[in-house]
Amino acid sequence: MSNLVYILNGPNLNLLGKREPETYGALTLADIECRCRETATMLGLRIDFRQKNGEGELVEDIHEAISTAAGGIVINAAAYTHTSIAIHDALRAFDGVIIEVHLSNVHAREEFRHRSFISPVADGVIAGLGAEGYELALRAMASRLIEHVEV
Ligand code: DQA
Repeated sequence: MSNLVYILNGPNLNLLGKREPETYGALTLADIECRCRETATMLGLRIDFRQKNGEGELVEDIHEAISTAAGGIVINAAAYTHTSIAIHDALRAFDGVIIEVHLSNVHAREEFRHRSFISPVADGVIAGLGAEGYELALRAMASRLIEHVEV
């Protein structure tokens, strides 16, 4: 397995910083990407960090992770978490490690956010820890990938 990790972000996450900061925090997605890059370098991982508003585009990014034989996917599918069978199916076809991340604690919010189509195909789930959740996901990823890494 390779040390390449795709970090995929779904709809409206490009608005972070401006969007409901009381729920999602003050950091922008660029700030989160920057933190992920630092953490990944420290851990010996390579990352490909992306944000897409379209469901099909996220599916295509997962297909790319499959075809490049990436070691892992960290995914915050945002609202598609709660609706997307297409993303669920695409992730099922991925052989590497999958970690689902949410900035907010979705379980403490509206009922419709309690259901995730990602969780059944994820190796682990992190919710409610803000941007730190992404860094924790990378740490967990490194401990699962690093022993069998082909750089
Ligand atoms: C989110 C939670 C989702 O319910 C919501 O639709 C988002 C962001 C989070 O990171 O907390 O857009 O995935």
